[in-house]
Amino acid sequence: MTKAVCPGSFDPITLGHLDIFTRASELFDEVTVLVTGNPDKPSGLFTVEERMELIRGAVDPSIKVDFCAGLLVDYTTEHNIDTLVKGLRSSLDYEYELPMAQMNRRLSGIDTVFLLTDEKYGYISSSLCKEVARFGGDITGMFPPNVGAAVMEKYQS
Ligand code: PNS
Repeated sequence: MTKAVCPGSFDPITLGHLDIFTRASELFDEVTVLVTGNPDKPSGLFTVEERMELIRGAVDPSIKVDFCAGLLVDYTTEHNIDTLVKGLRSSLDYEYELPMAQMNRRLSGIDTVFLLTDEKYGYISSSLCKEVARFGGDITGMFPPNVGAAVMEKYQS
């Protein structure tokens, strides 16, 4: 049985992330979306618990959702995960991801598989879309519906 983890801060997930999770679930027997961060030390727009709830509300129920407050490789070793899966939008993502993938491989031997982001989502990032929402811009087609509603609610409250 092949097991993969899609790790990230996911504050919150976008449609680009969701596309990667769905495609990963077609390649691996078991996929876990892993939110990194300490639930006791909230930072960002959503707490770790809120991010996990938003992911659960958007993904297929066959995809697991969990969090990791420590080193990613400790989680993957403990849960017998074979592979990390990440999306790549551009060479900028590649430069950012390369040292992390190499560090994780050095620490535990785990490999990272990169899926190229669908061109529809190439310009979408959590931070950019949050900024659009914060200033009242149209975020249609950027987040899954439950996530878009939660983002709007955060900025309206
Ligand atoms: O979505 P992000 O914030 O770009 O994802 C980065 C993330 C969460 C994958 C990375 O920061 C991470 O793995 N954090 C967990 C702590 C860890 O293992 N750090 C060493 C990474 S080589």
